[in-house]
Amino acid sequence: STAYENILVETRGEGPLRYGWITLNRPKALNALNDALMDELGAALLALDADEGVACIVVTGSEKAFAAGADIAMMNPFNFPDAYRRGLISRNWDTIRQVRKPVIAAVSGFALGGGCEVAMACDMILAADNAKFGQPEIKLGIIPGAGGTQRLPRAVGKSKAMDLALTGRMMDAAEAERAGLVSRVVPAAELHAEAAKAAQAMCGYSLLALMATKESINRAYESPLAEGLLFERRLFHALFSSADQKEGMGAFLEKRAPNFTHR
Ligand code: CAA
Repeated sequence: STAYENILVETRGEGPLRYGWITLNRPKALNALNDALMDELGAALLALDADEGVACIVVTGSEKAFAAGADIAMMNPFNFPDAYRRGLISRNWDTIRQVRKPVIAAVSGFALGGGCEVAMACDMILAADNAKFGQPEIKLGIIPGAGGTQRLPRAVGKSKAMDLALTGRMMDAAEAERAGLVSRVVPAAELHAEAAKAAQAMCGYSLLALMATKESINRAYESPLAEGLLFERRLFHALFSSADQKEGMGAFLEKRAPNFTHR
């Protein structure tokens, strides 16, 4: 793998399309997100997004921590000009949004502050049963700075978002699943296997359809319903010009497995 210092990056899987696997790896700081780590995460995501042999990407941390937030030691001395010029919490964090392939967050342990925000910026969150989510910035005299006040209410509703961000309390995996923040909870020992299974399933589908699905679901957050429905219908119609649509439907009718060519 490339020479990253704060993350580990591999591609995994069998078959023509593989999946990227990114492990946040600053164990001594519970994967606290400093600029170096976020720059590497952004670079790795963009490289995997550009890799034609990759269908989707898993982002995970350690068993104890997905990420315990933005690096408090790094931020502590900043004043407004530093934060503004450097684009603190936006320069490299917005990169996740540019990725067009599905990104799965596989969360074990702490996903706090910026850690929760990175997970929410991914397309879906698979949680281990020991996962803990929260936006504890209030305890530091600040507010969430990477989407916590925007994505959390969209995911869990206003009341629970207010509760978490105003009290700084942590939410366990069961509560996160009830609230709709995470797609599923699995035993911690099975988290990576489940994430791999989901990623491997995606690798068997049409990359065009995967990307269009992601783009269309994301539209649900950016536009009124009528616009979103129109966007979806246009993409739906567009896919009928793909070889993969003929292959997928043809294979179903011929009762055989499809062999997508991503064209
Ligand atoms: N930044 C920098 N270092 C961090 C860190 C962070 N966010 N979180 C943990 N660490 C470091 C600790 O300082 C400690 O380092 P040392 O061993 O050198 O002392 C090491 O990681 C282990 O942490 P703890 O000893 O605290 O471990 P614990 O098991 O007792 O507690 C914890 C775990 C509850 C997660 C606790 O570490 C904690 O509360 N961390 C901070 C959580 C937080 O406030 N996150 C929000 C950050 S602000 C933000 O993210 C802004 C934004 O919106 C982007």
